[in-house]
Amino acid sequence: MSFGPIPDIELSDGVRIPQLGLGVLRIDNDATADVVSDALAVGYRHIDTAAGYGNEQGVGDALVRNGFAHGQARKEVFITTKLRDSEQGYDSALRAFDRQLGYLQTDYVDMYMIHWPTPFDWRSTQTWKAFLQLRDAGKVRTLGVCNFLPEHLERLHNETGCWPTVNQIELHPTWQQREVVKFCRAHDIAVEAYSPMARGADLQAGGGLLEEIAQAHQVSVAQVILRWHIEHGIIIIPKSTHQSRQIENGSIFDFALTADEIAAIDALDGPTRAGHDPMTFSYS
Ligand SMILES: NC(=O)c1ccc[n+]([C@@H]2O[C@H](COP(=O)([O-])OP(=O)(O)OC[C@H]3O[C@@H](n4cnc5c(N)ncnc54)[C@H](OP(=O)(O)O)[C@@H]3O)[C@@H](O)[C@H]2O)c1
Repeated sequence: MSFGPIPDIELSDGVRIPQLGLGVLRIDNDATADVVSDALAVGYRHIDTAAGYGNEQGVGDALVRNGFAHGQARKEVFITTKLRDSEQGYDSALRAFDRQLGYLQTDYVDMYMIHWPTPFDWRSTQTWKAFLQLRDAGKVRTLGVCNFLPEHLERLHNETGCWPTVNQIELHPTWQQREVVKFCRAHDIAVEAYSPMARGADLQAGGGLLEEIAQAHQVSVAQVILRWHIEHGIIIIPKSTHQSRQIENGSIFDFALTADEIAAIDALDGPTRAGHDPMTFSYS
């Protein structure tokens, strides 16, 4: 079983990104090639990894095994990876990228991202110069950041004259980061939700509301949450190691939530993040 075509979102630089991808955080490198191959087999064409996940080699193995590493077929998949925070800086970012591309076993990366802003050790301006060089050399198609708050986006813009095309942030029904989303929209920065189901915790949110909506559409609670993101124009990268769930998470383009249902899920916003605080965290 597989699902139908996934819509694209056009980024501010004209690059198109599939609105749904597979996240591969917390999957061992040895298991990653099989998980990614399962996802490619059912129709995923967008994979989100990072140097810090330690599984770029597994992603690369899956690209090679399934014939997506080079040539025309390479253009059919969108590969994102992220720079380790400890390797931010001009020379260190260029060196890191070459190593990462080697693990991925392909000729270019679709999106390269700064993983965390580390404002207490700000090196994103120098890093961005390396990112621009990689893009100009055709090794990266589009440049993004993760976990940037408006003040970090503004600082990057003030110091480089550039906005990233994408900001990947923690976003799910109980942690909606509306101010960050609003700022991104105002500057034509696409918002990509990581932990779109709060690592699974939001499957229990809403005191029965999500189950009720799921029943009305004959879908699962996971599908309701993921569809809610889609309704808001957000890019999502749910992670699952199970092919049946990968199919479930992708089967969200043949139903739509009503305006009332969207508003009811909007009202679940709360003060508790599932992940880390960008002001203090470094993934290293
Ligand atoms: N940039 C950053 O700083 C950052 C931070 C965190 C995450 N990310 C990216 O975002 C991706 C997704 O976030 P995440 O992995 O934290 O959380 P998530 O996608 O919200 O949730 C993943 C969890 O939900 C389970 N799950 C998946 N589909 C399900 C379904 N249909 N029904 C029930 N349970 C389901 C998964 O279990 P199974 O695998 O067992 O199915 C896993 O435990 C990551 O993999 C990573 O690529 C980026």
